[in-house]
Amino acid sequence: MSALLEVRNLCVAYGHIEAVQGISFEMNAGEIRTLVGANGAGKSTTLLALSGLVKAKSGSIRFEGEELTRLKTHQIVERGLVQVAEGRAILTTLTVRENLELGAYRRRDHAAIASDMERVVALFPRLEERFNALAGNLSGGEQQMLAIGRALLASPKLLLLDEPSMGLAPIIVQDIFRTLREINVGGLTIFLVEQNVRQALKIANHGYVLENGRIVLEGSGASLLGDPKVLAAYMGGLD
Ligand SMILES: Nc1ncnc2c1ncn2[C@@H]1O[C@H](COP(=O)(O)OP(=O)(O)OP(=O)(O)O)[C@@H](O)[C@H]1O
Ligand SMILES: [Mg+2]
Repeated sequence: MSALLEVRNLCVAYGHIEAVQGISFEMNAGEIRTLVGANGAGKSTTLLALSGLVKAKSGSIRFEGEELTRLKTHQIVERGLVQVAEGRAILTTLTVRENLELGAYRRRDHAAIASDMERVVALFPRLEERFNALAGNLSGGEQQMLAIGRALLASPKLLLLDEPSMGLAPIIVQDIFRTLREINVGGLTIFLVEQNVRQALKIANHGYVLENGRIVLEGSGASLLGDPKVLAAYMGGLD
């Protein structure tokens, strides 16, 4: 079986800062994989490179066999790699409904858009209750749900998330992760970047630990969760 996404020896630099230093990983269709690591490890940079928002210095990113490093962001989105932005980037002066509709703005398959809208509303009943509210009036958790919903309306083949748990209360984080699992069970492949190592590894089939731009450990979510090195470095020791 060939991988859906294959990243080989990816390097990304900002001037002299070598943020990502030759990482390799892959994703098979239907999986959730996670890239975890501390502040400044290079997680967001990796995602930005996948989306074409920063240029790879070297290495390759293949999606369904096609090299992405030469494509523009909008072409990458058209191929089905859709990123939920860190900090959410929803449009606060538009309503929930309008924000969701914006997710589908490149699409012309109106029947499929309508059914995706129903699916998003079923996943996030809170959003339906607030359909006509201004997005700026939503709570942080609701805004994160909206950002995910909007990405789903772009009809992704691979959903990329940058720290969806950031700044949210633990109970909301649980909710978001449960929903990601549900979206995955529905067939969508998910690549999740997180500092919330425990939650991310719990839902992931496979995880990668990034330190200073290098992958230092990888394995199944369960094996990394039980790894003393991961426990010591990222989860405040054994508990
Ligand atoms: N636009 C930029 N210009 C220069 N250096 C940058 C830029 N963005 C990130 N960096 C640097 O690149 C390295 C990796 O940053 P990155 O944002 O990818 O880390 P991260 O793992 O996402 O961290 P966090 O968990 O804090 O979001 C850091 O040293 C950071 O300071
Ligand atoms: Mg980041």
